[in-house]
Amino acid sequence: MEIIRTIEWMKQIARDARAKEHVLGLVPTMGALHEGHFSLVRAARQDCSPVVASIFVNPKQFGPGEDLQKYPRTFEQDAAALENLGVNYLFAPDASEMYPGGFRTSVSVEGLSDRLEGRSRLGHFRGVTTVVLKLFEIVQPQRAYFGRKDAQQLRIIRQMAADLNLDAQIVTCPIVRESDGLAMSSRNAYLEGDARHAATVLYRALNSAKKEIEAGQTEVLRLLESLRQVFKNEPSAALDYAEIVDAETLEPVLRLRKTCLALVAAFIGKTRLIDNAQIEANDEPISVLL
Ligand code: PAJ
Repeated sequence: MEIIRTIEWMKQIARDARAKEHVLGLVPTMGALHEGHFSLVRAARQDCSPVVASIFVNPKQFGPGEDLQKYPRTFEQDAAALENLGVNYLFAPDASEMYPGGFRTSVSVEGLSDRLEGRSRLGHFRGVTTVVLKLFEIVQPQRAYFGRKDAQQLRIIRQMAADLNLDAQIVTCPIVRESDGLAMSSRNAYLEGDARHAATVLYRALNSAKKEIEAGQTEVLRLLESLRQVFKNEPSAALDYAEIVDAETLEPVLRLRKTCLALVAAFIGKTRLIDNAQIEANDEPISVLL
């Protein structure tokens, strides 16, 4: 595996791959890699050669007062794991390479970006779409792999790809969880002692909604009520939001229909975690993907 630090060199490799009609797959990450990330890499390895993984802790998607400085950085370990998984190129530019002095441009997907995560984290998705568009321009992937763990991010990136006629096909991968249901996340590294158990409240709440849906409940107010109750029983968690929305528009729905997303965000101490479930209300019976 070759580690690439400059945009120019990455572009050269991308051009060569394209000229040879190779199917280049990209897995964008911020590092501190875990099984969630590895599942994307494995999916990319199945369909693509070469596979490029990127590690870039993107300052533009962190707000003031967020965890940019302390975001876990485990580069050596990450690089070794990616090499073992058969990644061909690791693109790991530093911030001044991606955002040299005088950088002024951003791309933002209107509407979808200011709800849910976007309301709690102002400017977050503008940072995400700007860096993802830059990565697509630099790496020129035919396919790019994203996790359903970040469902709103995925919806926004899909919209950007459609609106801007990007060549990259966006591939979605399922949520990888710990054995107790906690969705894997680089931020789980912050959880110590009791906080680690408390963090399963996001999964427990979504799972209780899933059970009610499977028992026939389709009224969103009722579902949210019982979901919030699970949080009330976990005093060390502070719920930021719990919503059930249309998966296309991300607008709240009153009753389950088509494909919906149940999304939750909560603080466990200072650690902010998100999770979601996808509800297929077209199917009979309604199925819930956690
Ligand atoms: P990061 O949080 O490192 O996640 C990189 C990719 O891994 C994302 O597509 C995310 O959805 C996926 N992922 C994380 N945890 C997962 C899990 N438990 N199961 C499945 N997939 C999971 O998301 C970002 O970085 C950044 O916003 C990025 C897209 C790289 C832009 O900076």
